[in-house]
Amino acid sequence: MIHLLVRDRSGHDHMIEAEPGLSLMEAIRENGLDELIALCGGCCSCATCHVYVRSPDPGLLPPLTGDENDLLDGSDHRLSESRLSCQLTLAVELDGLTVEIAPED
Ligand code: FES
Repeated sequence: MIHLLVRDRSGHDHMIEAEPGLSLMEAIRENGLDELIALCGGCCSCATCHVYVRSPDPGLLPPLTGDENDLLDGSDHRLSESRLSCQLTLAVELDGLTVEIAPED
């Protein structure tokens, strides 16, 4: 199991566990954090799964795809740590991943 720390929009931290191979979005929603809407179900067309990756350094994550970058560009809340959580597949190397759910656009 992979351990993740997720901060919700109220500032509350949730320690959750997930199986490797799930997307970060799936892991967050399966643990009951449904303020992450994930409207398109993970097909990279809505940006309602926007998170900020606090740890590890975003440079250690798989690179942004063009579609992900374009969708994030449409957010008023984009930061350098922004990612679409449906596009991050959880691997054991990401144990300890710390993210914050971005404000809703
Ligand atoms: S769930 Fe729609 S882009 Fe991630």
